Amino acid sequence: MSIDVQQKITKTDLLVIPFYAEKTPTAQQQAALEQYGHPDFEAKPNETLMLYQKNKLTPRILLVGLGKQKSDSTEVWRQAGGTLAKKFSKAIRHLTVLPPKEDAACLAAFLEGMMMSHYRYEAFITDPERRLSPFPEVRWILQEKNTVDFTKKVNEVHVTTEAIKMVRDMVNAPSNQMSPSKIAEHATRVARGNFKTRCTIFGESKLIKLKMGCLVGVGKGAMEETKFIVLEYKNKPKNKRPIVLAGKGICFDAGGLNIKTSNMEEMKYDMTGAATVIALFKILNELKPNLHVIGLAPCAENLVGEAATKPGDILTSYDGTTVEITNTDAEGRLVLADAIGYAVKNYKPEAIIDIATLTGAAIIALGFDITALMTNNAPLAEKVKTAAKAVDEKVWELPLEEEYKKYMKSPIADLANFSPKASAGTIMGGAFLEHFTKNTPWVHLDMGGSAWTKEEKPYFPVGATGRMVRTLWKFLENYSS
Ligand code: BES
Ligand code: ZN
Ligand code: ZN
Repeated sequence: MSIDVQQKITKTDLLVIPFYAEKTPTAQQQAALEQYGHPDFEAKPNETLMLYQKNKLTPRILLVGLGKQKSDSTEVWRQAGGTLAKKFSKAIRHLTVLPPKEDAACLAAFLEGMMMSHYRYEAFITDPERRLSPFPEVRWILQEKNTVDFTKKVNEVHVTTEAIKMVRDMVNAPSNQMSPSKIAEHATRVARGNFKTRCTIFGESKLIKLKMGCLVGVGKGAMEETKFIVLEYKNKPKNKRPIVLAGKGICFDAGGLNIKTSNMEEMKYDMTGAATVIALFKILNELKPNLHVIGLAPCAENLVGEAATKPGDILTSYDGTTVEITNTDAEGRLVLADAIGYAVKNYKPEAIIDIATLTGAAIIALGFDITALMTNNAPLAEKVKTAAKAVDEKVWELPLEEEYKKYMKSPIADLANFSPKASAGTIMGGAFLEHFTKNTPWVHLDMGGSAWTKEEKPYFPVGATGRMVRTLWKFLENYSS
């Protein structure tokens, strides 16, 4: 991936000038703005001002605010990029960025914001007028000496934002288009033609033979076949034993026989975890770190067919734990229990990270912007938090309080999947999953709030966010070096 760098402004459809609030523009920026005097622009974060001129060299100039330089961060630049991309139109086939400073991390975040913002789920939009205009070609005014660092980062931005787009396309797709089999096809496609990655799909009869009773039990009320996806990436690994990523893949969560009474239409996004894991393998294939990583995606639909698991039934999980199903709507922890059990038994992993839209209670605890993190291993959690911080994604740890774990016991089985006596629903989900880790270092990420946005943000269009792809990639990258 090469980037288009130049020292002088040449003819361009749009000249983008990012500005700090209290700083005077650089000489080059000033020169570009010469004929405007002092535009009425305060350079607050995400403020923009479009200027038009007859000048053929730069017919449009867009000022983009960065706020005060002392509160500068990569996130400010990412948001500015996202805000800028909302101004793209068919007329803008190329643009030139004239930055106030040549910092590779900030400029890469700026591009990342543009690419994350420039997205629409348009698989079912038939009117071509409503389609997004193509992403313009981007040129950078930079000194030659600063291009090497930046080029490397730009390549990573391209790969990770493509993976985020893949997650969003899969998650935004309605459930009648994104069955467990369809997710399996996506995983197969990611692995195809890549000798470092293998993909194996287990169908229902194989899962019954393997005794994955919880996963099979969740999918029994649906016509669509339950699938268990296993991805494996191995490239001269630095880690001795694999890292396992496990993602909840509930293609639609009607709640089962404990049927949902509100917001059911949103529940196509209950396979975000599975999509995130598959997208991370796409990144692994392209950026090729020295790692051994296993990806697991238990995929099923939680519906109400006549074979559906009934409240009060007892299921036996892959590791032999018996679970009383006190609420069929707490299905995510069941499919992940089997995935975690499978990981522990077959790989003895160095670390397990699961990603799931596990609880609505995560929204109550942390809102829509923060992913809940739970762990049985502080050093591993620290690694995930460090990665999240490095890419400006927000995670917050909730404690797996010992005292709370008793609520997940059942009088007639080893565990219950839900307790009407317990509050702190997000912690209860984590506490249930912890049982299956058998002390393997593990981090649980509950994206119940953060997987989807109803509100447009600078670089999140309404719908699937694609969060945690960047955090988990950063985690893996750090792990490999
Ligand atoms: N998929 C849902 C969690 C969810 C709800 C995510 C809303 C995002 C938004 C999960 O399977 C579920 O239904 N959880 C129940 C658990 C309860 C029955 C213990 C919940 O959160 O209400
Ligand atoms: Zn549910
Ligand atoms: Zn669910």
